[in-house]
Amino acid sequence: MQIDLTGRTALVTGSTQGIGAAIAAGLARSGARVGVNGRNEKRVAEGVERLAAEVPGADFVPVAADVSNEEGAQRVLETLPEVDILVNNLGIFGSADPLEISDEEWRRYFEVNVLAAVRLIRMYLPGMTERGWGRIQNIASDSAVVIPAEMIHYGMSKTALLAVGRGFAKQAAGTGVTVNSVIAGPTHTGGVEDFVYELVDRDLPWDEAQREFMRKHRPQSLLHRLIEPEEIAHMVVYLSSDQASATTGGALRVDGGYIDSILP
Ligand SMILES: NC(=O)c1ccc[n+]([C@@H]2O[C@H](COP(=O)([O-])OP(=O)(O)OC[C@H]3O[C@@H](n4cnc5c(N)ncnc54)[C@H](OP(=O)(O)O)[C@@H]3O)[C@@H](O)[C@H]2O)c1
Repeated sequence: MQIDLTGRTALVTGSTQGIGAAIAAGLARSGARVGVNGRNEKRVAEGVERLAAEVPGADFVPVAADVSNEEGAQRVLETLPEVDILVNNLGIFGSADPLEISDEEWRRYFEVNVLAAVRLIRMYLPGMTERGWGRIQNIASDSAVVIPAEMIHYGMSKTALLAVGRGFAKQAAGTGVTVNSVIAGPTHTGGVEDFVYELVDRDLPWDEAQREFMRKHRPQSLLHRLIEPEEIAHMVVYLSSDQASATTGGALRVDGGYIDSILP
């Protein structure tokens, strides 16, 4: 299958590192112009520099803005008025005693992980439907389905994101715009290294720490290892393509078989 995204403009939120950066690289490799987003100009410039070295000749647009608030989202819109492929990748996570999570923290998880995506969909969906083509993807998590006791607030936000994806897919029905969620499983990123070290002995070298983490906290994984960010990106690139035109309203898993379910 040849995926050609030439002429398409993509925006990947939270793409200065981790899964977002891998998605930005994957989309660019297939020919898309890609907006690279993070909260400040320095980090975005560094992210764009790394991506440009990885995908020579690609067209990356720096988009420095905190998309978890309205002002930041407006700045994104000014930089990229038309987007064909919107990847709501931004997400925060961390472990916390469920009885100790404050109201403010519950709100922060909702604002960053859910409302930021809803706001950008509201901004870009009308243009996509007018042009008769668009791809929206929300990066969810196994935690949307298998709620970890130590991160209920995160699980809540990702379950909500699945609902948002399904609902907006209905809103976009018959327009040429597809809306899907990608359920990522435990993935090897910098953010996750910090998270793993919150749960296992900090003195363990990384390889042992990740094996210990998977054994103790993610024993359902059929991979027995963390997923690499590129493995998530491949699914996102496919869903962004013309070839994925009949897939909408879905939640597709790249979770290493972590969720014990036959469907989807
Ligand atoms: N890693 C996993 O194991 C895993 C598993 C399942 C699902 N996921 C999901 O995959 C997505 C990416 O995770 P990740 O581990 O790759 O994340 P990460 O390494 O923590 O990276 C987060 C990215 O978001 C940016 N960011 C943070 N707050 C922002 C804001 N308010 N506005 C704009 N950008 C912001 C950061 O850039 P700056 O610091 O430069 O602002 C960074 O580029 C998340 O939705 C996460 O829930 C991850």
